[in-house]
Amino acid sequence: MSIFQRIHLSVFPGKRNTKHGNSERPKIFRSFLLHFRPSAIPEKTLRLSLTWGLGSIAAVLVFLLFSTGLMLKFAYEASPDGAYNSIVYLINQIPFGRLLRNIHRWSANGLIFVVFLHFLRVFYTSAFTAPRQFNWVIGLCLFCAVIFSNFTGYLLPWDQLAYWAITISTSMLDYIPAVGTGLKEWILGGTEPGPRTLMNFYAIHTAILPALLLFFIPFHFWRIRKAKGLVIPRSPGEEPETEEKMADAMPHLITRDVALALIVIATILIIAMFFNAPLADQANPGLSPNPTKAPWYFMGIQEMLMHFHPVFALLVIPVLIVVGLLLIPYFNYEANTAGIWFCSVKGRKLSLISAVVAVVLTVAAVLLDEFFISANMDGPANLINNGLLPFGLALAICIGFFLLMKKGFAATNNETIQAIFTLLITAFVVLTIIGIWFRGPGMQLMWAT
Ligand code: HEM
Repeated sequence: MSIFQRIHLSVFPGKRNTKHGNSERPKIFRSFLLHFRPSAIPEKTLRLSLTWGLGSIAAVLVFLLFSTGLMLKFAYEASPDGAYNSIVYLINQIPFGRLLRNIHRWSANGLIFVVFLHFLRVFYTSAFTAPRQFNWVIGLCLFCAVIFSNFTGYLLPWDQLAYWAITISTSMLDYIPAVGTGLKEWILGGTEPGPRTLMNFYAIHTAILPALLLFFIPFHFWRIRKAKGLVIPRSPGEEPETEEKMADAMPHLITRDVALALIVIATILIIAMFFNAPLADQANPGLSPNPTKAPWYFMGIQEMLMHFHPVFALLVIPVLIVVGLLLIPYFNYEANTAGIWFCSVKGRKLSLISAVVAVVLTVAAVLLDEFFISANMDGPANLINNGLLPFGLALAICIGFFLLMKKGFAATNNETIQAIFTLLITAFVVLTIIGIWFRGPGMQLMWAT
């Protein structure tokens, strides 16, 4: 054997069979792949209508972000003087630099969107129930890691958009009683964004959050294997099978994974070729743009801040929502609805009703507050008028809705919790849309342009 053959064999062990090709190689490749995926999976979980490939798309986007992020590190300089210029140099002077930045930016934005959809699909197929409860919690940690990765990355170009979006987002913390200002100064490394902020955000963005993702993603996948795969899709009223028909992961699952990955990469590449990631003028701490908006994924919170006292918008409501999300898998459910979209036929109708009610009520509440309540109120917002009262009203609506579901529609616990979740998540999405598209100069309401 020549030295090259010996090196080759050390990398790809296994007997060579010159007549029929290398017969052991497929086996080795297969066993390598099966470290990541189980060897057999329930056939029904291959249906696209169960997962829509969303978790896998998220994983591919994370892969794209890691690979492009590593390359961006070679060009980026984490200082207020160097950051902006290094980005300008990257996009104008370095071959494919602009494309690289575009891929990174659009994958990051796409990831939030895809993870949000994945979170909805897991919720609406009751895939958070036993034995998957803890994987829901791991998923929530992943969601936070994804949002904060986006947030910390947003500042790095050090342009006007970045500087003021981070200023407005972190200044929201000032309103949290007792700890808010200290927390803000700790994150920023000072009273306002400056060199220390950039260093902090850079370290968190390129070391701490990637490490967390590298820990939580395999943990998430491992828990899926421990739960013996995904929930088995069922139609409403269909009982779970005692024995499921299995399919080999190779080729059924792996070929789908590879095809999906190629489609995602091609889509991001096409988007990155035609749409440039925004880059405004270099950051100018003395000149704030009008309106000054937080990044789009925080616009729901910024919009909420316009209607609720900050203690409620930034502390009470977010804490209640996070606690509620963490508790979702641990509520007492009456029926096993795992794998059934929207729990039941009635669950579908109630979710639809909840979504419509949320759209109408949220839009009405925003208009009412904008044109009738705030306009007639003089002086600074106080805790009662802008805090307790609207919060109490929102809480009363939720409780009323809960009772309506239970008593009026005779809904089960599963259907009721699903309806409340739909109500709140739709309201948040509507607030986000209003904040992004319907707020103009001075954050006044306006028609979308
Ligand atoms: C970076 C973020 C995430 C990645 C890469 C990811 C990846 C995946 C993948 C590949 C699957 C299996 C197939 C599929 O559903 O598409 C999955 C399933 C699952 N994910 Fe995620 N996920 C993420 C975030 C989340 C979030 C935010 C939640 C919920 C809070 C969540 C909860 C779950 C659960 C409970 C399952 C099992 C579902 C079932 O058995 O049907 N994941 N995830």
